[in-house]
Amino acid sequence: MEKYELTEQQLDKLEQMTAAYAARLGHVPTAFVQTFGCQMNARDSEKLAGILREAGFAEGADETADVVVINTCTVRENANERLYGHLGHLNSMKREHPGKLIVLCGCMMQEPDEVERIRRTYSFVDVVFGTHNLYRFPELLARRLGGEKRVFEVWDAPREMVEELPKKREVPYKSGVNISFGCDNFCTYCIVPYVRGRERSRRPEDILEEVRRLAADGVIEIMLLGQNVNSYGKGLEEPVTFAQLLEQVAAVPGIERVRFMTSHPKDLSDELIAAMARQPKVCRPLHLPMQSGSSRILKAMNRRYTKESYLALTERIRAAIPDIHLTTDIIVGFPGETEEDFEETLDVVRRVRFDSAFTFIYSPRTGTPAASMPDQVPPEVVKDRFARLLSLVQSIGGEESLRELGQTMPALVEEADETHPGRVTGRLGTNVMVHFDGDPSLIGRIVNVKLEEKRGFYYLGTMTE
Ligand code: 5AD
Ligand code: SF4
Repeated sequence: MEKYELTEQQLDKLEQMTAAYAARLGHVPTAFVQTFGCQMNARDSEKLAGILREAGFAEGADETADVVVINTCTVRENANERLYGHLGHLNSMKREHPGKLIVLCGCMMQEPDEVERIRRTYSFVDVVFGTHNLYRFPELLARRLGGEKRVFEVWDAPREMVEELPKKREVPYKSGVNISFGCDNFCTYCIVPYVRGRERSRRPEDILEEVRRLAADGVIEIMLLGQNVNSYGKGLEEPVTFAQLLEQVAAVPGIERVRFMTSHPKDLSDELIAAMARQPKVCRPLHLPMQSGSSRILKAMNRRYTKESYLALTERIRAAIPDIHLTTDIIVGFPGETEEDFEETLDVVRRVRFDSAFTFIYSPRTGTPAASMPDQVPPEVVKDRFARLLSLVQSIGGEESLRELGQTMPALVEEADETHPGRVTGRLGTNVMVHFDGDPSLIGRIVNVKLEEKRGFYYLGTMTE
């Protein structure tokens, strides 16, 4: 695939249009990027914010900004309905705010029916683009600012691999890095392969170059991002495994922590388990979406593993990495799910003892095979199962996630504790937060903290150095 780099000219053009927009408004225009959905979207939003900053926008605090960009998610139906509700609200704000612009992008824009609905019914939406042409944002926004009434551009497939975009990081000391885009798995409930396209891996040289640049810029924690990081490297000229990439990233000077998501259980290799066990910089949470504990439902979901193989995998992981913290995603109410199937899910939760689990009510997505499967589960049954699952997950998570009580562990200081002056909040490798006495000048540093007291889902501790 061709490599694409945003040119100076494209940014210059947007900068000129932004200056003219500022003159019309009578102030420096503000822009606010609102993100829904996953880490991939969060990373894309940083790119959008970076472009806006380069073009001369100031950062808006909320949707009262002059330009509001909404990076949408479509993985569940209610995400779409919420967006439409939200748009109504933005429209009334726009009526009282001359020059306000509304931009929509992200996964939902890859669904032709939704774009058509926006085109017809939401005439106040100014710019629409999708996930495959995100990097055309400067040009599309420049066209709108230059006087075109509405600018809609969505591609149904990726055309280039984008390497260079300005990015505005949320925080200076940690950053996400995309390693692959798209997904080839076609789980039968999931819209992602349709809206994000086929899986493409970035070249390891390009990833490492980005990590080196981030490290030089003060980043100490990297989150490697892909829909299925475990199948990274397929289709590259010189195939590289995810485990090899992980070790190379961890070896970059200045990088102290590496995280990654998401892992498909069917592709998680023993090589990766060994690499994690060897490499202390790789943080210990492992997110391993199980979706269901019933082999029959897993088959209908096209997950290509069984209850038994999932359990065996988690046992291999725990044996090799005793301090691992396992987390997961679970869907309740997939078509045809019986009480027995659901009991199998509860059984896996009890046996694996996840630190935390994202639990979802199954949502039929038009265009996916599961949406037209028979035996959709009645909502009241799903609600009851969901509540039972949630309570189990929470009680186990409360015990497991704080099992390091009494130990001294490194924590990355992320913020001052707003409610307690003189105290700061740090994140452990396990993702659990710890509050302790400290000065805000520690923000962005990793310090050792003794974990002294459990409070709900976090610790209180004392810094030991
Ligand atoms: N309904 C409910 N949950 C879903 N997910 C993906 N698609 C659906 C759907 N149609 C969940 C899966 C996935 C997570 C990101 O979202 O659990 O791992
Ligand atoms: Fe969706 Fe399955 Fe791909 Fe995850 S692996 S993005 S659930 S199709």
